[in-house]
Amino acid sequence: MRMSEIDRAWEDVLAHARRLQGLSLRQLFDGDADRFARLSARLDDLVVDFSREKLDGPALEALIGLARAAGVEALRDAMAAGEPVNLTEGRAALHMALRGSVPAPEGDDPEGTLVRFLDFAEAVRAGRFAGAGGPFTHVINIGIGGSDLGPAMAARALAPDIDGPRPVFVSNVDGADFAEAAAGLDPARTLVIVSSKTFGTLETLANARLARDWLGAHAAGQMAAVSANVAACGQFGIPPERVFGFWDWVGGRYSVWSAIGLSLAIGIGAERFRAFLAGAAAMDRHFLTAPLARNLPVLLGLIGVWRRNAMGWPTVALIPYDHRLSRLPAYVQQLEMESNGKRVTRDGAPCAIATAPVIWGEPGTNAQHSFFQLLHQGTDIVPVDFIAAARPRAADPHHHDLLLANCLAQARALAFGRTEAEAAAAMAAAGEDPGRITRLAPHRTFPGDRPSTTIIHRQLDPFALGRLIALFEHRTFVQGAIWNVNSFDQWGVELGKETARSLIDAIGAGEAPDADQATRALIELVRELRR
Ligand code: F6P
Repeated sequence: MRMSEIDRAWEDVLAHARRLQGLSLRQLFDGDADRFARLSARLDDLVVDFSREKLDGPALEALIGLARAAGVEALRDAMAAGEPVNLTEGRAALHMALRGSVPAPEGDDPEGTLVRFLDFAEAVRAGRFAGAGGPFTHVINIGIGGSDLGPAMAARALAPDIDGPRPVFVSNVDGADFAEAAAGLDPARTLVIVSSKTFGTLETLANARLARDWLGAHAAGQMAAVSANVAACGQFGIPPERVFGFWDWVGGRYSVWSAIGLSLAIGIGAERFRAFLAGAAAMDRHFLTAPLARNLPVLLGLIGVWRRNAMGWPTVALIPYDHRLSRLPAYVQQLEMESNGKRVTRDGAPCAIATAPVIWGEPGTNAQHSFFQLLHQGTDIVPVDFIAAARPRAADPHHHDLLLANCLAQARALAFGRTEAEAAAAMAAAGEDPGRITRLAPHRTFPGDRPSTTIIHRQLDPFALGRLIALFEHRTFVQGAIWNVNSFDQWGVELGKETARSLIDAIGAGEAPDADQATRALIELVRELRR
């Protein structure tokens, strides 16, 4: 039953895609004076404008039919009810419980844990808990993937709110990362937080040992840990009063709301951290209750499916016109690509359709001066997600007008382009000679018809950031539900980890590697270059 209903829904979506292939965004706008109103949606001051996507009202209805047929609402409600939607690991995915939006499993107490780690954050901020040399000036968070990207992205985004010890992030096992982060810091006034859900991640444990050595005699009193594996933190030597736990129902890439956010909380303080959670909770309420046709994460998820499966575009550029969101593309990369980069469905059968796109990006306007050439005139279509705030935080308002003008201009230029006739007319108006016009007009033509979605909110503050991140989390969920993949496991990273473990001694201790010809040759080369 499910299959035939879904097959029909997909057929409907694809029929609209074929119909729309022949229509340009110019034509779609010319034919519909209400297009913006029809193809945009809003939650308070947060507006998602998808009028420049290559779809229209009937196509959107077909997509909503697909969401229904795929059981998005039922799966969402199952997630909210704490059912084990992470089928391969038999776990719930209850990150919404961390912001109080849905109940936690019996016996687990996210609010109590929140109070405990926020109290610790406040003690650090006030200097009640201090280093050997006085109140902490810096906090080094050691973690990787979800135990790094969330707090690192948020600390950068909320830089104007940081009025406590400054969070610094070390993730890479390349020793250069720790060396750069620790340069200029005073070990007697630096708190080190080891963040790892499993407390078994090679990179994090190597960096934690490095940090312990760097702290020297201060290590015993200046390290804390965040983990779902509390016992391992004790074995590492971190006392229980400085160990903050969380639960297996919090996925790493959904964990910034848990004690994994401790370094951020120390930087911005308890009140702003609670505002960050409240923003996410506002998005949760909307996601759990708004009708599909007005539900922002559902709409964004459907646009993602439309781009990937109906239009066949394999990548998405995420371009925040907000310099402080410079780590957002990296954060969303893990969120989407680790969640939905899957090749089998929830029941283990090969996926018949393409799943997660490649997500990449850089803040505007810098991106305009590097890869936007390809977005405008390259041979591939790359849909773009723009993000901008109406108001700046502590920046010159005129600069912000320049920033916004560029953001809006790019979306417009991508969608509507400039025809060869328009390019020629502009050159003629500038007094260019006819020969040069004929020669250069093709180079100065913009085909347009290149899609984008623009997300605008009032201002990037803790509440708005929490709401934005939850929007992306739920978009990923919706896409995963339609692609019928398990968005909450990540077996694909395991083989590389195992293989690396098997090569460490071959590189370091000179043991004979049990590996293929190319790997053996490269290890031999490394040894030779080291001699
Ligand atoms: O290798 C992938 C991964 O498991 C991510 O999912 C996770 O966020 C990261 O490693 C770090 O894991 P941990 O928090 O257990 O150190």
